[in-house]
Amino acid sequence: MKNHTIEDKNISAQEQLELLKKRRSTVAFSDQEVTKNQLEEIFEATRWAASCFNEQPWRFIVAKKSHHELFNKVLSGINENNQTWAKNAPVLMLTFAKKTFEKNDKPNMHHMHDLGLAVGNMSAQATAMGLYLHQMAGIVRDNIQRDFDIPDDYEIVSGIALGYKLEIKDVPEELQARESKERARKAISEIVFDGNWGESSF
Ligand SMILES: Cc1cc2nc3c(=O)[nH]c(=O)nc-3n(C[C@H](O)[C@H](O)[C@H](O)COP(=O)(O)O)c2cc1C
Repeated sequence: MKNHTIEDKNISAQEQLELLKKRRSTVAFSDQEVTKNQLEEIFEATRWAASCFNEQPWRFIVAKKSHHELFNKVLSGINENNQTWAKNAPVLMLTFAKKTFEKNDKPNMHHMHDLGLAVGNMSAQATAMGLYLHQMAGIVRDNIQRDFDIPDDYEIVSGIALGYKLEIKDVPEELQARESKERARKAISEIVFDGNWGESSF
């Protein structure tokens, strides 16, 4: 069997880790356009996520700002707080997850989990392309249901803003503090146990 080496890979594990850490939920979107080809590349990464029984329960509505009518319809599905910065993004999305299995109509309790994996892929690919996305739980489900007539067996899950990020010097004053806030994470020992619950050697 062939031993895989770093040369087999397009990017090294270290570079991948750096990319994953570079991702951040920016609130400072630039008006630079995201092309249809770029969106296709991002959704290509998205659709290769793993899912329970390969159901691929994720669905997305995507609107480019240049498509004013659809963009505004999606924007009205996002709550007012999030709209303040999300309206500047060149692409907005809404996410959905099918609640039942296609093969037998039984409840799929992992539908949200699988959507999350797909958005994780989307996020990693966007970062590798120099793009940023910001996910939003703050959506207005009633507006989304009214405007898009979502089928009953789909959960309306979240909104996503996608685009390039402004350099910090160009960020509007009211967003400066939020955009430059240091990002924090729990330590590995707080989330990974290798003994009893709560015990960690990491
Ligand atoms: C499912 C989900 C929902 C979120 N909802 C919102 C939201 O409604 N508004 C917002 O400003 N940020 C939202 N965020 C962004 C988180 O606040 C952000 O990911 C977290 O603070 C960590 O920051 P980072 O993504 O820059 O590492 C959401 C993130 C996720 C994954």
